[in-house]
Amino acid sequence: MGFTRRNFLKASTAAIVAPAIPACSDSVLVPAAGVPLGQFDADSTAEEVTQEIDLTGKIAVVTGCTSGIGFETMRVLALRGAYVIGTGRTLQKASDACARVKGVTTPVELELSDYDSIVACGEAIRSLNSPIDILICNAGMRGGDREIVNSVEKHFAVNHLGHFLLVNRLLERLYLAWQGRVVVVSSRAAYRDAPEAGILFDDLQFRRDWDVRTAYAHSKLANALFSFELARLLKGTRITSNSVHPGVISTNIIRDEAAIVRYGFSLLTKISGKSIEAGAATSCYVATSPILDSISGHYFEDCDAVTVTGGAHMHDREQASRLWLRSEELTRNFLDQIERPDWSDFRNGIRGNRGPRAEVQ
Ligand SMILES: NC(=O)c1ccc[n+]([C@@H]2O[C@H](COP(=O)([O-])OP(=O)(O)OC[C@H]3O[C@@H](n4cnc5c(N)ncnc54)[C@H](OP(=O)(O)O)[C@@H]3O)[C@@H](O)[C@H]2O)c1
Repeated sequence: MGFTRRNFLKASTAAIVAPAIPACSDSVLVPAAGVPLGQFDADSTAEEVTQEIDLTGKIAVVTGCTSGIGFETMRVLALRGAYVIGTGRTLQKASDACARVKGVTTPVELELSDYDSIVACGEAIRSLNSPIDILICNAGMRGGDREIVNSVEKHFAVNHLGHFLLVNRLLERLYLAWQGRVVVVSSRAAYRDAPEAGILFDDLQFRRDWDVRTAYAHSKLANALFSFELARLLKGTRITSNSVHPGVISTNIIRDEAAIVRYGFSLLTKISGKSIEAGAATSCYVATSPILDSISGHYFEDCDAVTVTGGAHMHDREQASRLWLRSEELTRNFLDQIERPDWSDFRNGIRGNRGPRAEVQ
């Protein structure tokens, strides 16, 4: 390797951010069987992947619309004509973000660590009495010290359980849509850095071996498995559920990490990261592409569905089902209050049977 400024930066960045860079794993990505390859790649932007798409009349919900990938996702969906409900941790933050977007948007408050806030957000959206065409579970956090929130480790509580509850409270609205789509923003950290055993069913408080990187990855694995199981439960309907890795992008996501990690991450994203415009592309593509209207239960990177082989748990059916049941137990008091779809109704074709079925991997 010659001594160039770029090589020097790469080497020094690697040294600085070693604790924050995903550890090497045996995982290999192969194109997912049965999913059409799109015409886009890692450099495509959200505007490019939606160029030909008219979303007029569609209703989309984007969580975490106040910064980074979520803001760009909301901006582009609204640009293409969707009516976007954007959530922020306070109404003021969500309103400020919506005000910066051209198109029709409505701000709603959502604090994912607070079940009452999730219930209120769900009710506010349901009170619009409209179908939901697109629900993008984008909000996420990383950093801080180990904390217990709602009886589990904080990353798991916010990134996974919060969205689990919100999606369940909005499912009725999704199947009122012609073709509802749920997109869960996961991360490749889910197969690079999550515990070898996968979901820590016996230690959701992470009492053992907690560190930020592993705890974040654990929650991102939960995101992917939640989406995977939701797709299985929705089989036979026109609602799809997929998860995505947006790329490595300089956003606020690691603002609670140590200064040295933030510095290293910002160098890394300058050298080998994506722009925010490209970072929102995979979410927007999976949420809108007509060629994906019956594709469900997949994990996408750079606008293509991939299967993660090796020891990873991304497509672990047993863990996905177990996680669903455990998440139900943990949120039961807030699920019981609402009418949720009866899965047997789906399977019997009583509900959601208006056309081609979503193909589940
Ligand atoms: N950036 C990357 O390299 C990368 C890589 C892989 C995956 N991701 C995923 O991409 C998604 C978007 O992240 P980003 O990079 O755009 O980061 P970001 O700029 O920090 O945006 C995160 C959004 O989530 C919201 N949020 C954080 N904690 C929340 C909580 N407790 N309740 C409700 N909302 C909350 C934030 O609101 P506030 O600003 O008010 O806190 C913000 O709107 C996340 O799920 C992240 O895990 C990012």
